Formats: sequence, C-alpha cells, structure tokens
Amino acid sequence: MEEKTIGLMGAMSEEVARLYARMTDRSEESLGGVTFYSGVLAGRRVILCCAGIGKVNAACAAQLLILKFGAKALIFSGIAGNMTSKIGVGDVVIGETLLYHDAERRMIADTFPNLQEFHGDPAMIAAAEAACAAEGVRYLVGRIATGDNFVGDSATKNAIAAKCAPDCVEMEGAAVAHVAAKYETPCVVLRAMSDDADENAYETLVVKDFDITEYCDTAARICEELIRRL
Ligand code: ADE
Repeated sequence: MEEKTIGLMGAMSEEVARLYARMTDRSEESLGGVTFYSGVLAGRRVILCCAGIGKVNAACAAQLLILKFGAKALIFSGIAGNMTSKIGVGDVVIGETLLYHDAERRMIADTFPNLQEFHGDPAMIAAAEAACAAEGVRYLVGRIATGDNFVGDSATKNAIAAKCAPDCVEMEGAAVAHVAAKYETPCVVLRAMSDDADENAYETLVVKDFDITEYCDTAARICEELIRRL
C-alpha cells in the first residue's frame, strides 16, 4: 500500500457515513466540533470528515487535514447549484478553476499564494474524470464559484454569472482549494448538481426532488474509484 494519506471531505453526513462504512482499520478524533475518521479505503490511508457548511468550516477542516492529520492530497465531494445548460441535475462538475464570488479577490491575492483563482490538481482531475466515467456519471471539468450564501434566486444567479461565469455555485470549494494552495497540497473538488440555483433551488433540495440517498451512494462510489486511481 502506498502510504500517502488522502484527506477526504464530504459535505453530507450520509455520504461520510457510507465512506466510513467501507473503511478498515478505523479510528476517530474530534477537533473543533468536527470528527476526523482515519482508516484505509481502496487500499489507501485516508482521513475523512464532514467539515460543515461554508468557507470558514471548509478552510478549518482542510488545514487540520493537512497540518494535523498529514493529508498529502485533498478530495472534496458535495452538491452545488447548476449554472450551465451543458449539464443538468445529478451530473457532476469537477473543479478545474475555483474562485470566490463574494470576496475581494484582488485584496485576498495580496498575500501568499497570491492567487485570485485556485486550481484542481491535473492528475487528480484526470482520476476524477476516469472515476465518473467508470460509474457512468455525466460530468464536465469546469469552473466552480464559492460564496457563503445559498443561491436561490435568479437575480443573484445572474449577477454571479455576469461576475465570474461559473458552471456551478456552492459554499466551500474555493476555500478548500485556497488552503490546499497555501500548503502546496494537490486537491480536487467534485460537485453533483442538486438544483439550478434559482427560485426553485431551496424547494428542490429540501423537498428532495434531488435524491440525497442516490447522490450519497454515487458520490461515495466516485470517491472510492478516484482514490483507487491516485
Ligand atoms: N449547494 C447546493 N445548491 C446550492 C446553491 N443553489 N447555492 C449554494 N450552494 C449550493
């Protein structure tokens, strides 16, 4: 077994539970209200957590994964609001570029790593593409915009589209990629489209047009396939 620890961040406890169930040699430790599960998955040592929603929760967990738990690569898997007609609900965006849509990007880029946009690691993106293909999931490699608000109206959606033209919008990805860049750690962010980031978004998510159970099954399978390919 290659002893490079992989940090796995799931957005939903159901998804994390599925991955945890498939791990062997398990132990856990809680810090800052987040439980970090360590074990072996697909022959690789992994540390898994459900970080919580939003940029700060994501950044804290990503930093702990790297500095405290020794993760040498980060995978984030979750859901997002679709911003493109190229794919639909249930399909996946693999983050090639990740950026904040609600922040002063130029001011943030004043300090290391001096970036206004962050990038998924090419080898991890390729592995994620292969994992999606193996699981029969439609995907695109694209642009993910991150902010601390749930986007659930057309005016906000259109403003974000005009500002940064993302393929989807979510609440953690750029923060994870930002921390990963600070510590020169490769990362990849996977997002399954759960809604269209419009007036129906909240309803779609909460009333469960979007099947969380199915999503969590698929996401866990993609993650395991991805780890197998790293
Ligand atoms: N995650 C899933 N759907 C979302 C949306 N519409 N806005 C922000 N984050 C999301």
